[in-house]
Amino acid sequence: MSSQPAVDPLTDSLGRPLDDLRISVTDRCNFRCTFCMPADKRYDFLARREILSFEETTRLARIFVGLGVRKIRLTGGEPLLRAELPILIAALSTLDGVEDLALTSNAALLDRQAESLVEAGLHRVTVSLHALDPALFSRLSGLDVPIERVLNGLEAAQKAGLKPIKLNTVVIRGTNDHEIIPLARFAREQGHTLRYIEYMDVGTVNAWDPKGVFSAAEIIDLIDARWPLEALDPERRGEVASRWRYRDGGGEIGVISSVTQPFCGDCTRARLSAEGKVFTCLFGKVGHDLKTPLRDGESDAALADRIRSLWAARTDRYSEQRSVDLAQGRFQPSEKVEMFRIGG
Ligand code: GTP
Ligand code: 5AD
Ligand code: SF4
Ligand code: SF4
Repeated sequence: MSSQPAVDPLTDSLGRPLDDLRISVTDRCNFRCTFCMPADKRYDFLARREILSFEETTRLARIFVGLGVRKIRLTGGEPLLRAELPILIAALSTLDGVEDLALTSNAALLDRQAESLVEAGLHRVTVSLHALDPALFSRLSGLDVPIERVLNGLEAAQKAGLKPIKLNTVVIRGTNDHEIIPLARFAREQGHTLRYIEYMDVGTVNAWDPKGVFSAAEIIDLIDARWPLEALDPERRGEVASRWRYRDGGGEIGVISSVTQPFCGDCTRARLSAEGKVFTCLFGKVGHDLKTPLRDGESDAALADRIRSLWAARTDRYSEQRSVDLAQGRFQPSEKVEMFRIGG
């Protein structure tokens, strides 16, 4: 019996493996969050023919899995706007080697879809929730979305068995930092794992101001003073959130400190946009087109070679560089892909 030859794991120029694939299935969104897609701007969305079909997405995902990807996360815009999403989930869930299949959503459409997502094979959902106060929530959503829609979505996800649910909260100083404790209380009561995200300079339309950053350290101090915390070890290499547990057994929280304590050194994520471009950094400017060669009939092996060379040459460490620039007073906003095109 012959054994499989050992294959060197694919690593980039800084020794980071390719482990996670984040797939944006649409650039459209039913929200206009002020810090992502401000409502006063106009957006040119992709036309249907420009977007990868489910077959094309699944084929590329299979190639990525062959190169080492173990975690897949579907994002948007808002992924639940993509018609028949469970069909894609079902296809991805059968890929050999995928250990984690998750979705990031604003949950406004989750109440109608939670059960079919679970039936299709979705493992986990992460829901964005930036305020509990109904008026503030509606304002941040940019389109006066009632918070009940998200709360109903969360309930439906829980009922459908998607537990534990993670919540993402972007904290912006002077805007929603007074919601840190109420949100922590809500997550403790509901059994959700809340992750606070430092406000980042994603894209260019949100007019990021570093003064809006409420640091992860401040968040931890605030919560620790109310419910004492202790640090937890990472569950795996490349985890974006640092984890903390409540000493009273009330569950855990996470902080994603991209600005004040960047984690580029362990970044194992590739992003595939809805139009089939690969971005090797959330703050990338240009993506590498896979759709054209794919539609031109290129083989799986040749597509895999493209991804392999792209990853091997990867040098991205945007957040680490931004920290240096901020500290030295020479940070300049640069042109980069919008968050809603690659899903965060
Ligand atoms: P888990 O697999 O549950 O740990 O989730 P995740 O952290 O992969 O996914 P999620 O979409 O919930 O990520 C949370 C947020 O962290 C994202 O929406 C981004 O705002 C931020 N984030 C994720 N990956 C990166 C990254 O590579 N760089 C930076 N700067 N931020 C990231
Ligand atoms: N900074 C940090 N996180 C952001 N998100 C959207 N815009 C920003 C920003 N400027 C969050 C979303 C979602 C995740 C994908 O990223 O709200 O939870
Ligand atoms: Fe808000 Fe997410 Fe939509 Fe951006 S993609 S507007 S963060 S719901
Ligand atoms: Fe990875 Fe880029 Fe985020 Fe750094 S800034 S962690 S390289 S996606």
